[in-house]
Amino acid sequence: PVLVVDYGAQYAQLIARRVREASVYSEIVPHSMPVEQMLAKDPAAIILSGGPSSVYEDGAPSTDPALFDAGVPVLGICYGFQSMAQALGGTVARTGTREYGGTIVDVAPGASDGALLGGSPVKQTVWMSHGDSVHAAPDGFTVLATSDGSPVAAFEDRRRRLYGMQWHPEVKHSVLGQEALERFLYDGAGLRPDWTPGNVIAEQVEAIREVVGQDRVICALSGGVDSSVAAALVQKAIGDQLTCVFVDHGLLRAGEAEQVEQDFVAATGVNLKVVDASETFLAALQGVTDPEAKRKIIGREFIRTFEQAAREVVAEADAEGTTVGGAVKFLVQGTLYPDVVESGGGEGAANIKSHHNVGGLPEDLHFELIEPLRTLFKDEVRAVGLELGVPEGIVWRQPFPGPGLGIRIIGEVTRERLEVLRAADAIAREELTKAGLDRDIWQCPVVLLADVRSVGVQGDGRTYGHPVVLRPVSSEDAMTADWSRLPYDVLATISNRITNAVPEVNRVVLDVTSKPPGTIEWE
Ligand code: XMP
Repeated sequence: PVLVVDYGAQYAQLIARRVREASVYSEIVPHSMPVEQMLAKDPAAIILSGGPSSVYEDGAPSTDPALFDAGVPVLGICYGFQSMAQALGGTVARTGTREYGGTIVDVAPGASDGALLGGSPVKQTVWMSHGDSVHAAPDGFTVLATSDGSPVAAFEDRRRRLYGMQWHPEVKHSVLGQEALERFLYDGAGLRPDWTPGNVIAEQVEAIREVVGQDRVICALSGGVDSSVAAALVQKAIGDQLTCVFVDHGLLRAGEAEQVEQDFVAATGVNLKVVDASETFLAALQGVTDPEAKRKIIGREFIRTFEQAAREVVAEADAEGTTVGGAVKFLVQGTLYPDVVESGGGEGAANIKSHHNVGGLPEDLHFELIEPLRTLFKDEVRAVGLELGVPEGIVWRQPFPGPGLGIRIIGEVTRERLEVLRAADAIAREELTKAGLDRDIWQCPVVLLADVRSVGVQGDGRTYGHPVVLRPVSSEDAMTADWSRLPYDVLATISNRITNAVPEVNRVVLDVTSKPPGTIEWE
């Protein structure tokens, strides 16, 4: 892999993604990892990321010079660049000019023969964010570029294959940023662009077969992108040894169960066990209005249902004589790379809502995990899904919370209320799709304010119905979000259709709150 050494900024993930966009596999490692451990991963190249510290500060992360002696090509970016300069005997100092945002760099005449900036225009706009600057390059390095605030804005030592730049090539505002990264990867490090969805699948299939052998595997399928693609991948590897369990908790949207039951099975041929547990869930939710209580109940019931289903799968397999060792040994989870990076990185984030992940592991079920997507970002998962033939309707599905419509009915959850919300939600989704907005928005929860009533007039009569809230948001990662500025005519159509078609609803309102302060879901 190409290792991206994380110096603590938000940029490491972005760098890793850009490397993968260049069809080269990358992995993020913390800067605290000892050099021997990094080298033990047999890296094809190493990229040192930016970071918030100053190389002078006490306790600022430093870079072990041994990293540069291993013969592995290295690119330092921003803090990584300064740290590299410092480790190799260059000088880093404060210029007094802080460069932030779009900056022009002058590419030095000699750079055009180099690997990193060869063929670059002599002036280019790059994105900077730094207070310290490299003032003198270490011995053996050629200075490739300068800017007002950076006497040395980029350098390289082609012989040792060491490169560095003060600006952030991973940020789109650096006009030729991706080109510079690719020059480093292809020319500087001699790598080939051969990391493609097809290769990812082939690699995973082989790995899964090896790990699983003849054992049985189970997967909690939610119908979302991640669990679906994970299941399709495992299915490709081991076929009938996999059983997917889809729990219908009665809190699904219109058409959802059908999509999984019909489309997904048709496309993948997977063994699917659908459990209709709606009675149980609704009974458990009776009289409950507190959001956290609802979430806990749904989570608990999910685990119970899933456990029961797992036992049935084992019993059925036993009856057929296809169980090895008498139990299901593995559980497939659709864990993605950002979760992996985040759980290894900063912990202790406040628990805003107790997220119930439908693929979540019941703790007392002793499965070994198969997480075939744990090295992938979301867009890569989608590419793999398409390559595997997972239906587009699933691959491009917007996020939908595990607790489903249960947390979009404000008040008690009942069968009747679910029907009202389901009808309104189906209309909103249909119109958004018709308007071609599905990929512009992150998702658009429709929320039923079941305990609120307002007066309306329809036909010649007075109505006293409930409002539904449209909550269209745009977001990159759901950590922050903004309300989407949907076209008025689309909103008007949704509102008209809902109030005409759903008798219990006589008002449609728009949520214009960003996150923070509002969360995306209402509960
Ligand atoms: P919030 O409401 O916290 O939602 O801003 C952020 C994103 O997470 C989704 N969400 C969930 N997903 N289980 C899930 O799998 C959950 O319990 C859950 N709660 C919220 C929400 O739809 C949004 O995309």
